[in-house]
Amino acid sequence: MCGIIGYVGSGDAVPLVLEGLKRLEYRGYDSAGFALVEDGQLVVEKSAGRLSEFMASLGDSLPSGRAAIAHTRWATHGAPTDNNAHPHTDCTGRIAVIHNGIIENVAVLRATLAKHGHSFRSDTDTEVLAHLIEHLYEDSLQGAVAAALKQVEGAYGLAVICTYEPHTIVAAKQGSPLLLGVGDGENFVASDAAAVLQHTRSVVYLDDGEMAVLTKDGYQIPDLDTTRVAKAVSPVDWDLATIERGGYPHFMLKEIMEQPVSICNTLRGHLLPEDGNARLSGINLSDAELLEFDRVVLIACGTSWHAALIGEYMLEELARVPVEVEYASEFRYRNPIIDDRTLVVGISQSGETADTLAAVREAKKKGAWTLGIVNVVGSSIAREVDGGTYIHAGPEIGVASTKAFTCQVTALALLTLRLGRQRALSVLQGREIVEALNALPEQVKAVLAKANEIERIAEQYVRAPNALYLGRGYNFPVALEGALKLKEISYIHAEGYPAAEMKHGPIALIDGMMPVVFVAPQDGVYPKIVSNLEEVKARGGRVFAVVTDGDDQIARLADHVFTIPKTLDSLTPLLSVLPLQLFAYYIAVRRGCNVDQPRNLAKAVTVE
Ligand code: AGP
Ligand code: GLU
Repeated sequence: MCGIIGYVGSGDAVPLVLEGLKRLEYRGYDSAGFALVEDGQLVVEKSAGRLSEFMASLGDSLPSGRAAIAHTRWATHGAPTDNNAHPHTDCTGRIAVIHNGIIENVAVLRATLAKHGHSFRSDTDTEVLAHLIEHLYEDSLQGAVAAALKQVEGAYGLAVICTYEPHTIVAAKQGSPLLLGVGDGENFVASDAAAVLQHTRSVVYLDDGEMAVLTKDGYQIPDLDTTRVAKAVSPVDWDLATIERGGYPHFMLKEIMEQPVSICNTLRGHLLPEDGNARLSGINLSDAELLEFDRVVLIACGTSWHAALIGEYMLEELARVPVEVEYASEFRYRNPIIDDRTLVVGISQSGETADTLAAVREAKKKGAWTLGIVNVVGSSIAREVDGGTYIHAGPEIGVASTKAFTCQVTALALLTLRLGRQRALSVLQGREIVEALNALPEQVKAVLAKANEIERIAEQYVRAPNALYLGRGYNFPVALEGALKLKEISYIHAEGYPAAEMKHGPIALIDGMMPVVFVAPQDGVYPKIVSNLEEVKARGGRVFAVVTDGDDQIARLADHVFTIPKTLDSLTPLLSVLPLQLFAYYIAVRRGCNVDQPRNLAKAVTVE
């Protein structure tokens, strides 16, 4: 979800909002645009691509006005194209809307508006808002926006201007961040304080269900029923760099802490509680076509490959469909046995990883139907697969992947429901999984609230020369992911292993200098991993264990213990990975490493 800024005052609005967009660039985006009313006409300029290119395309003669809105887009519905960039306008070209978030009931709204003669120019969900406001406008922009939002399901931070009321901006918040910047003879609306900081440090944070009506002389904050809401003006005492990271010292920590919200966004609109199933409209295949697949091949790299391994355990145990997991770099050069009954799934945060893209192309050449589980909308992999589902994790700026990983696993749980309920999963089993998925964001929040416990444990391991991560079943891939996190940001060599495999060699490494991290929640293989832990302790190993709340067996054996809530075996990775992300983060910070841009690494490996 990207960036919004609106200005109304005595100043020249367009340069001010463009400067504000620059302050929002760090959030990652794929297109940009602005709108204002000049001489009674709505002027809209927008394009896909970098903000710098967009601003260069405007030339020196910017339109002049006293109220403007501007937007940087992180696409969720419709690829990053000029047409899909914001602002979006209504049929008459008198109303312009910018929006951060996802409109879930866009299909119903679009169909209803089309019946009333509205025609659409973009693929986005946002454009529907412009037409709905047009449809409901009588004599007040605030009234029309409020009436429209009462019909909307989903998340939004939005701002609207129109030629009927050229010196007014109407804004509204539900699920996406939005605040007002209060100036002297001028007022702002923005998705975060970074966009207004150089003009004012007085902000009003909007809450869900609240609107704002801004003019240069002041603002009102009504709810959707026009009842005025009293709000405090808060001072912003962060510097710009700190604001860009949401107040956290690093993007990686911000993104770790965002996981309750990002998992919510991955799940949003997909769960079918009654049927114990998931709706994945991006898989444009009938039930019969889905049943034709006799195996699944998951291809990915790095952290996404670890997510794929968890997907393998889920799909085989719960959907009873054979699964293979392949490193994309290996798959593309092998001569894999693939045919039209193979469902090949490419998993990629960036959607641009060269090996994964090449592997998807190879699978298509061999006749497979390809599915993408991708974060960046409109990315190469997203455009080349036959169908897909976006994980909606939002921009992941830190090179070490955290929230994208848990959102990928969440998306694989949705795929497991979709395929499983056609095959081996009963409606009761499906409902149990849906219920456990719905409970996850709160459980994730509870784990992250104990981050300081991990920080204290991490301090004991800052000087470790190596580390061994052990897990079994669903948590074996978590052990691999925990080891990768430590390696890539703290530069400590770490190795993940299936816990039982440790006695076939790595046990020779165990001594007081080799920390061993056990990922050992209460699950089907818990008794086995306790034995593995005792083997390590018997050889003088130092153990940090991640266990389930209330565990008193491992707690007596391990040197350091961190507990996570109980959930289904298949969903434990979404909780057990969190302390490992934090463990790696705090060790890397203590070691003075560049946490957000570790040496030698790139966020998207677009070369072989
Ligand atoms: C993750 O922490 C790493 N930065 C890296 O392994 C990454 O997961 C891998 O390069 C795959 O990237 P993708 O998900 O964008 O395809
Ligand atoms: N859902 C809207 C779109 O895809 C807004 C995306 C955003 O938050 O930037 O255009």
